[in-house]
Amino acid sequence: MAKTKTSFFCQSCGYESAKWLGKCPSCGSWNTFVEEILSKEDNARNEWRQEANRSKVVKAKSLHEIQAVDDVRFSAKDEELNRVLGGGIVPGSLVLVGGEPGIGKSTLLLQVGLQLGQIRILYVSGEESEQQIKMRAERLGIASENFYILTETNTKNIFLAIEEVQPAIVVIDSIQTLQSSQLDSSPGSIGQVRQCAAELMKFAKETDTPVFLIGHITKDGLLAGPKVLEHMVDTVLQFEGDRHLSYRILRTTKNRFGSTSEIGIYEMMGTGLREVSNPSEILISQKDRSLSGVTIGTTLEGNRPLLIEIQSLVCPASFGTPQRTPTGFDHKRLNMLLAVLEKRCGFKMGIHDVFLNIAGGIRVEDPAIDLAACISIISSLEEIPVSDKACFAAEIGLGGELRAVNKIDLRISEAEKLGFNEIYISKYSSKSVDYRKFKIDVKAFGQLHEVFQDLFG
Ligand code: TYD
Ligand code: MG
Repeated sequence: MAKTKTSFFCQSCGYESAKWLGKCPSCGSWNTFVEEILSKEDNARNEWRQEANRSKVVKAKSLHEIQAVDDVRFSAKDEELNRVLGGGIVPGSLVLVGGEPGIGKSTLLLQVGLQLGQIRILYVSGEESEQQIKMRAERLGIASENFYILTETNTKNIFLAIEEVQPAIVVIDSIQTLQSSQLDSSPGSIGQVRQCAAELMKFAKETDTPVFLIGHITKDGLLAGPKVLEHMVDTVLQFEGDRHLSYRILRTTKNRFGSTSEIGIYEMMGTGLREVSNPSEILISQKDRSLSGVTIGTTLEGNRPLLIEIQSLVCPASFGTPQRTPTGFDHKRLNMLLAVLEKRCGFKMGIHDVFLNIAGGIRVEDPAIDLAACISIISSLEEIPVSDKACFAAEIGLGGELRAVNKIDLRISEAEKLGFNEIYISKYSSKSVDYRKFKIDVKAFGQLHEVFQDLFG
């Protein structure tokens, strides 16, 4: 009998090595190598190769011989999911949904499945019991006769159940709990995760059934183990958000069937996830806005413009070193803006504490909110409120100049749609946009102090 072949795999990136290593040469993490048995996998591979050899009809085709098939997608009842998938669920696609534990991955897929009503779904759970899933479905308040649940972790049994149920969509919760008898290693190890995903991929491609895989994320934000999976699957969706806040963002990080710049926004309610189709409305608090230090900026998430509220509080520093405390905004960027305000516009920022908040608990990296942040800081410093009908879209340069931002027309039309009367932009913004077509008053300036002049006189 042949000796059992083993190899060592890095549990964080899947790097293979013949001997144990302390540090992974590929991803640099320490102590991640685990021995896994190869022989069975090899046998399977050989069998597959022999099969491939036997069916020698395999022939390369010229691209124009191949007939394009119409893009037939299932449309989920969930518009946010449709959007991030690039317009619906593609038959035969393998979609990985990643996210931290407790963020709502199971809830999302359960809800999407139940809403599909007419389409038969098989939901395979290796994490929760049938009762738990039933309770959750009751909580969501959607009933469906076509929703089947299987609590199983062995892939062979899963395929048997699939044969019996004949579902149109399969959901696996989660890929880390699955186990294939092809391998002896334990569930969740790189080898198992890869093997199970490969089996499911084969199934998806052969039967044209879409398969959703739920995957957990480690503390550092990596898909635990399934880093290797990202290459195999067609689409990777990340479900993220602050667990203490109710907003959740579903973000596409890879998509073979659409753009990767789309996001879907949900709110976690007592009765499941609610689609948020007009995110700007929730990100702008509807409170009394005659307060100083509150401004509205525009940011883009993918191709979706969002209007967000920025709040600042500037007060005299009581200690030697003033505090700078941003929430949802980059610390270094805040320091830079304060330096520009001090040096180019003559405000005494060095003797003030500055707190800056992005409302709604989201994190914004788009530099287009620079101008709104600066105006908010000065509004608080000078105790002059900014009109709640004004919003801002420009980046600030080190010279105190307003710099152009991308997709300015999208930002302006979103502001117009939400009922703003004026938007301040850079005068260097794209010349190809006809600003006269907007009903909203577009005010273009070149320097930060000119905006102050216009707003505060
Ligand atoms: P869950 O889907 O179990 O997360 P994951 O599968 O990503 O680990 O989500 C669990 C959280 O969502 C849990 O803390 C309870 C909360 N929740 C609600 O707030 N409302 C609901 O209707 C449901 C079903 C869950
Ligand atoms: Mg779960």
